[in-house]
This record gives sequence, structure tokens and C-alpha cells, in this order.
Amino acid sequence: MIKKSLINCKDLSKMFDGLDEAVINKLNININEGDHTAIVGVSGSGKSTLLHLMAGLEKPSSGKVKILGQNISNLDQNSLGVLRNKYLGFVYQFHHLLNDFNTIENVALPLLIRRCSYRAAFKEAEILLKKIGLAKRLTHKPSQLSGGERQRVAIARSLITKPSCIFADEPTGNLDGKTAHFVFDLLLDLAKANHSTIVLVTHNNQLASKLKFQYKLNQGKLKKA
Ligand SMILES: Nc1ncnc2c1ncn2[C@@H]1O[C@H](COP(=O)(O)OP(=O)(O)OP(=O)(O)O)[C@@H](O)[C@H]1O
Ligand SMILES: [Mg+2]
Repeated sequence: MIKKSLINCKDLSKMFDGLDEAVINKLNININEGDHTAIVGVSGSGKSTLLHLMAGLEKPSSGKVKILGQNISNLDQNSLGVLRNKYLGFVYQFHHLLNDFNTIENVALPLLIRRCSYRAAFKEAEILLKKIGLAKRLTHKPSQLSGGERQRVAIARSLITKPSCIFADEPTGNLDGKTAHFVFDLLLDLAKANHSTIVLVTHNNQLASKLKFQYKLNQGKLKKA
């Protein structure tokens, strides 16, 4: 069976004001539907920048990103938003939970945005949070949760819409070794159960080795690791 390309980056570059060299420099990568890809690199190598470019959260300086064959630079903000909401889930490096909302509200929100009924959204969120071991934290606000619990809420929020592709930026970055493995495996298991494509960045080679495809980001380019 021929696999369909989900994300394709062609000669992708990103420069920032004040930096002499491009952070991402004519980078090429293709990610097919169902692929599980890890990108490793040292701090400052451009991992978050690359993930943001791939997910259409930032604009490239040159080159292009295609999602399901569509050049996202040709889409207006509204169409890009629709595409992202329909197909992509993002676990941010710094989880961006909404502090005024509790656990279940944070997780249900992406479904409510998709006009799912209040009742169905909260039911789905509760089921997922139970799977992820947070049944007793449904009404806690982010400030009342531990780092690992917050990270799990962020993972649940990214998975609740069963996206075709999950982008995860250091999803276990601030956790101790044992918790990191636990949360990481949970993310992989849930994503696999949804048949989601995974693109994950981390500085942790041990975690990266759990994914089928591994690349190293260095000087703005990717090499097979
Ligand atoms: N908005 C910005 N303006 C200027 N420079 C930026 C901006 N965002 C990132 N950079 C620079 O681009 C480089 C890559 O940053 P990025 O956050 O992508 O690295 P990273 O590999 O994710 O690092 P870490 O592992 O620490 O999260 C860094 O040198 C950073 O200072
Ligand atoms: Mg980063």
C-alpha cells in the first residue's frame, strides 16, 4: 500500500532578526501518514521552531510546508485554523494550559470549539482523563497540579480530538526519569490507539529511540540518526 504524505517540508528556512545564521536552513523532510518520527537536537538547535513551522504556527522565511498536499503558505488564517483544528494536535513545550479553567475544562475545550455538545465534550474528556490517571484531578486548576500532572493534562488536551497528527514538543521535558518514561509511553499508546501520526522533538535520545524514525537536527538540517 502506498502511504500518503501528511507533512512535507521543502527547502524550509527560518531566520530570526539578530541571529547571523538561519535556525532552519533549507531543510527537507517527508512524514507519511502513520509514521512515528522523533527529532533530537541540543538546546537551541531549532527543534521547537521546526515543529511550529510544520504545524503552521510560524511562517517560514523561505521554502514550503505542505500538509496533506496543501501548501500552507497559500492558505488564509481562517483556512489554516480549520486545517489545524481538524487534523493536528500540539503538545507545547511549556504546556499553555488555561489557568482559569480546571482540568476537565481544559481538556474538553478543543471539542467545544468544534461545536461538540457540552455534555458529550465533558464525557469524552472524563474518559480520557481516567485513562491517563487523572480521575481524581478533574476539578483542579493547573496551579494545583504537579508538573507531571500538568503535562498529562496537556497530552489529553492534544489527543481529545483524535487528530491525524500529534506534534509533541519535549512532552516530558520537566519530569524526572521514571515519570518521563511513564508519561511518554502513555502518549505513544494513546496516539497509536487513535492511529495518529506522531512528530516528536526531544533532547532525550533514550525516549527518541522508542519511535520508528529518528532524525538529528544540527545546524538547521536533519540527518537520519
Ligand atoms: N522569536 C524568536 N526571535 C529570535 N530568536 C529566536 C526566536 N525563537 C527562537 N529563537 C532562537 O532560535 C534558536 C532555536 O530556538 P528553538 O526554541 O527552536 O530551540 P530548541 O531546539 O527548541 O531549544 P530547547 O531544547 O532549549 O527547547 C535559538 O537560538 C533561539 O534563541
Ligand atoms: Mg524547544
